[in-house]
Amino acid sequence: DQERTFVMVKPDGVQRGLIGEIVSRFEERGLKLVGGKFMRIDEELAHEHYGEHEGKPFFEGLVEFITSGPVFAMVWEGQDAVAQVRTMMGETDPAESAPGTIRGDFGLDLGRNVIHGSDTEAGSAEREIELFFDDDELLDYERVD
Ligand code: CMP
Repeated sequence: DQERTFVMVKPDGVQRGLIGEIVSRFEERGLKLVGGKFMRIDEELAHEHYGEHEGKPFFEGLVEFITSGPVFAMVWEGQDAVAQVRTMMGETDPAESAPGTIRGDFGLDLGRNVIHGSDTEAGSAEREIELFFDDDELLDYERVD
């Protein structure tokens, strides 16, 4: 199905100059960019976005990291976009990610894993898109391949 997914280049990816490389991979794959925002995540948004990890041992470090510098937040649309993006990202842990995946090629460790993409759980992508974008920030247009 045509669907939308939320993706962001994390602070480590921004600092290492990987925004263009990552955007290119999704563009070349044929996904359509429908929203993009260069922004800084504050404490409140970090807690909302990562609410499911609250209480876990890595939670405080995760919030500190994700608020440490700007992120590039995006919405991508396409056939099975959520699963496609997850395949292209690789595993959460770069050490377990295959070469050719974004984390397999650029990720440093479990925290500094360059990119976030919505999981395949029902409602996750919609929830994250709404958290980061207003409706009028998502643009409709034809992609020509
Ligand atoms: P992400 O897909 O953005 O969702 C939660 C993030 O927590 C995950 O990527 C990792 O970068 C980060 N993280 C840090 N430590 C751990 C850990 N021990 N287990 C799982 N995720 C972790």
